[in-house]
Amino acid sequence: MRVRELVAGYTPEVDILRGVGIEVGRGEIVTVLGPNGAGKSTLIKTIAGLVAVRAGSVQLFGEDIAGVAAHLMVQRGLAYVPQTDNIFARLSIEENLEMGAYIQSDRAEIRRGVERMFGLFPRLRERRNQPAGTLSGGERQMVAVARALMANPKVLMLDEPSAGLSPKLVGVVFGKVREVRDMGVTILIVEQNAKAALAISDRGYVLAEGREQVSGNARDLLENPEVGQLYLGVRRGLS
Ligand SMILES: Nc1ncnc2c1ncn2[C@@H]1O[C@H](COP(=O)(O)OP(=O)(O)OP(=O)(O)O)[C@@H](O)[C@H]1O
Ligand SMILES: [Mg+2]
Repeated sequence: MRVRELVAGYTPEVDILRGVGIEVGRGEIVTVLGPNGAGKSTLIKTIAGLVAVRAGSVQLFGEDIAGVAAHLMVQRGLAYVPQTDNIFARLSIEENLEMGAYIQSDRAEIRRGVERMFGLFPRLRERRNQPAGTLSGGERQMVAVARALMANPKVLMLDEPSAGLSPKLVGVVFGKVREVRDMGVTILIVEQNAKAALAISDRGYVLAEGREQVSGNARDLLENPEVGQLYLGVRRGLS
């Protein structure tokens, strides 16, 4: 995926993204970091077709997908797990997964997908008939990821998968993200939790003031003092 000079915003007077450029190579895990309000969710929503592109381009496997409607992105191989409200709380885990396969009409294929997800997330199999709203934060996040994977995406975008999780659960969820990558899915994460996200990433970018300010491989970014600087004044930084 290649994003170039991306400009987007919500109100006509204000651009939130002011020329963002990022690349995610096939099979990579790439994290976009940045403090609260940096525009991380806006970036992911714009790529997903939920916020209009004002300028710039978004390419997926060489095709320009800027302007493609959000509900058609799944067919292009792109899935997205939102930061909040990413499960159907009243539906069971199994029903949540089935919802993720809405473009699939073959029942047997859906069954196989559900079983595959239970293989990846055994805790969900044990709770398959339980309403998703009764799950722990980490389990909910797994339901959200599993639901997105039901569409067999080539690229998975995750908006703050660690939000609200205990440090231990953050490790569990990110461990699963790695497993998903090892299944062949390309992953773009936006996160505030720089340390945990970079630990599983190949490369990263730091977003501030509507542009990517620093980029590099994950290990170098963790040690780059400029990254800490960009987080100054923000409680959940690198410290
Ligand atoms: N629906 C909206 N309408 C108007 N402005 C919005 C909307 N959503 C976000 N914004 C503004 O866009 C800016 C970037 O928000 P965004 O949600 O992309 O930040 P973020 O980096 O994801 O922050 P966080 O880490 O808190 O999730 C903020 O100033 C925010 O107030
Ligand atoms: Mg956000």
